[in-house]
Amino acid sequence: MKVRDQIPTAENSHNFNAMPDTDPMLSVGSTLDNLKAAIMGETGASAKYAAFAQAAKEQGYDQIARLFEATSAAEQIHINLEYGLVAEEDPDFVKPVADAPETHECDLNLISGAKGEIFETSEMYPAFIKKAQEEGKAKAVQVFTRAKLAESVHAERYLAAYNDLDAPDDDKFYLCPVCGYIHKGDDFEKCPICFCPKASFREF
Ligand SMILES: [Fe+2]
Ligand SMILES: [Fe+2]
Repeated sequence: MKVRDQIPTAENSHNFNAMPDTDPMLSVGSTLDNLKAAIMGETGASAKYAAFAQAAKEQGYDQIARLFEATSAAEQIHINLEYGLVAEEDPDFVKPVADAPETHECDLNLISGAKGEIFETSEMYPAFIKKAQEEGKAKAVQVFTRAKLAESVHAERYLAAYNDLDAPDDDKFYLCPVCGYIHKGDDFEKCPICFCPKASFREF
């Protein structure tokens, strides 16, 4: 993902359309409902990637294990941002706990991860952003927007790892602690999503 002159938003970008024939599993409610649904989805994703990281380690894919660990941590960032907004309106809301995920061979785990990320970036978050805009919930628009942009990069990292499964390199992964963006390798200056400087990134 390239660094643009301005921080990308739903207003200044053209990749925020929601897939029209959306997954029947996706129900769009109020922004508060959508924040809770997003927390549920991100909780499942984070647990899945932690399990995939363990599986990758056991199968000898150390670099991919680090990618899954970084992405699992990225989803925790999204959970915390979304939880912060839910807590403002519903202080009794308790964060959900994920079921134990099923794991497969490393290539299939990468594809499973990429499919989930593509669903979030092209169906779930665009629909939630539209609803939050209609409701005038600016903070939710920003949280969903940053998550939407990060999920697409996560999908890109997973598919790149899938394509290069048998050609790993020594690159580390760098996680933006603000928005969950992940960079492969250290040749960057700042986050292309939220402009957080490299020095704050967490290395995996
Ligand atoms: Fe993600
Ligand atoms: Fe960021």
